[in-house]
Amino acid sequence: MASQSLDEMVNEHYGSKGLLDRILSTARDNGVVLDGACSDDFSPVAEFHIGGRAATIDLAKMAQLSLGDKVIDIGSGLGGPARTLAEQFAVEVEGIDLTHEFCAVANELTRITGLTDKAIFFQGDALSLPSDSNKYDVVWTQQSCMNIENKPQMFAEAYRVLKSGGTFVFQEVFAGDQGGSIALPVPWAREADMSFLWTSDAIRNAVLGAGFMEVIWKNATNQYLEEYRILAANTGNAENASKMGAHLMLGSEARLMRKNVVDNLGQGLISIYQGVFKK
Ligand SMILES: C[S@@+](CC[C@H](N)C(=O)[O-])C[C@H]1O[C@@H](n2cnc3c(N)ncnc32)[C@H](O)[C@@H]1O
Repeated sequence: MASQSLDEMVNEHYGSKGLLDRILSTARDNGVVLDGACSDDFSPVAEFHIGGRAATIDLAKMAQLSLGDKVIDIGSGLGGPARTLAEQFAVEVEGIDLTHEFCAVANELTRITGLTDKAIFFQGDALSLPSDSNKYDVVWTQQSCMNIENKPQMFAEAYRVLKSGGTFVFQEVFAGDQGGSIALPVPWAREADMSFLWTSDAIRNAVLGAGFMEVIWKNATNQYLEEYRILAANTGNAENASKMGAHLMLGSEARLMRKNVVDNLGQGLISIYQGVFKK
C-alpha cells in the first residue's frame, strides 16, 4: 500500500466527522444562544494553542496590529484566533489551513458569530499560499509549524505574501534545550512522522534567512505553563466532558495529549516561542 502523504496525514489527524455538530450541540447544552453567539463562546475549542484566547491577544499586542490591517493566518484551524483578531482588533483576516474540515467549520462558526465580513477561511497549503505577493499587512501563525517539514519554504511564502514594512508574527512549539524524543501522542501528532520540531536557533536562522528582520524573540514557555497544566488535568474528564473543549476535536486521547505536552515542557523536550519580525 502506498504510504500516506503529509497532507493526508494532517487531514486525518485533525479532521473528524461531525465536528461542527458536536461543537454546536455542546454550545447549546451550555446555554449559548447560537443566534447572537460571540467568538469567545467557541474559544475553548477554537483557540487551539497554548494560552488560548489570552495568548492570541498578547501576541496581537506584541505585533501592534492596527485598525483595518489585512491579516493572513497560516494554519488557521477552527478560526478562533482569526475571529478574536477581527472582533478585538478590527482587522480583516483570511485564514488558510490544510485541513478541509477545519476550514468548513471555521467558516460556519464565523457566520454564526456574525463576523463573515471580517474573517474567511480557505483550504490551502502554507508551502504554496493561494495569495498574491505583497498583499498583507500582517502574516500571522500560531502553532502550525510543528506539522511542516519544509520550514524554510513556509517562511519564504510568508515573506512573499507580506507587504514591504509588514509584520510576521508567530507563536510556535519548538524543540527544547534537552533534545531527545518527545512523549506521544500530542495534540499535533499521534506519531513522530508528522511532528517536525526545530530548535529555537534553527528556526530563528531560517526566519532571518527568508529575509525578515527581528523585532521580538521571546521564550514564552513559562508564561502559559501553569494555566496549561490545570487545563490539561481538566481536559475531557468526567466533570467537564460535556463542556466546550479540545476533546470535541481530538477525541478520547485529548487528555493524554495535553498531559504529554505538560511533561514534554517540564522535561525541556519542547518549548514555546513567540516572535515578531518585519519585512
Ligand atoms: C494545532 S492547530 C493550530 C490551529 C490554529 N492556528 C490555532 O491556534 O487555533 C495546527 C493547524 O495547522 C494546520 N496545518 C498543518 N500543516 C499545514 C500546512 N502545510 N498548511 C496549512 N495548514 C497546516 C492544521 O490543519 C491545523 O489546523
